Amino acid sequence: MSKTIFKGSALLNPVPVVLITSSNKDSLCNVFTVGWVGIACTRPPMVSIAIRPERLSYEYIKATKNFVINIPTIDMAKKVDFCGVRSGRDINKIEAMDFTIEKSKKVSAPSLKECPINIECEIKQIIPLGSHDLFLAQILSSSVEENLIDKNGKIHFEKANLMCYSHGEYFPVFNKPLGKFGFSVQKKKSKK
Ligand SMILES: Cc1cc2nc3c(=O)[nH]c(=O)nc-3n(C[C@H](O)[C@H](O)[C@H](O)COP(=O)(O)O)c2cc1C
Repeated sequence: MSKTIFKGSALLNPVPVVLITSSNKDSLCNVFTVGWVGIACTRPPMVSIAIRPERLSYEYIKATKNFVINIPTIDMAKKVDFCGVRSGRDINKIEAMDFTIEKSKKVSAPSLKECPINIECEIKQIIPLGSHDLFLAQILSSSVEENLIDKNGKIHFEKANLMCYSHGEYFPVFNKPLGKFGFSVQKKKSKK
């Protein structure tokens, strides 16, 4: 199959789509949708998010140096979209979307109760790149709904009905697993 060259696009797809909560110095809270998010380091655990300077969230996060990544479920797709097309400058999205905010464990930004996973992050570095600034942040605490964790401590993200974003559309993630980490080189257990 021949391929067409797409010039100048960041075509990495699909990406996780998350709700980022933040607060400002007067404890006003906001939530916005982010697709440019990723793991940046294992030890220390770090993530990156890319934010346009004109966002209200940019202002809040830069002022308090922290934010929370809230991982939404497929039933929240409409809310996720809304928080990505309306600014907290014009509307209180937390109230409008009926979100319940909870005090976070380690950062001043609140967490969203409705999301099964909340990842609390503290900014370490801000790198201006162009349209977006890249915020590099260390994870200080992660909260996971207990019903997703099995008796061996494994988190079953596949049971959380998570969603992703791909080329302008939202999709559910997870079907049947294709294999475990390292399965390509794993030796078959010999039958006794
Ligand atoms: C699916 C989706 C992904 C988005 N990803 C980003 C992103 O990675 N960075 C960003 O700055 N804005 C992103 N946006 C846009 C912001 O969420 C949007 O401008 C929002 O209204 C900003 O809200 P605020 O002004 O209350 O902070 C995204 C929007 C959508 C719908």
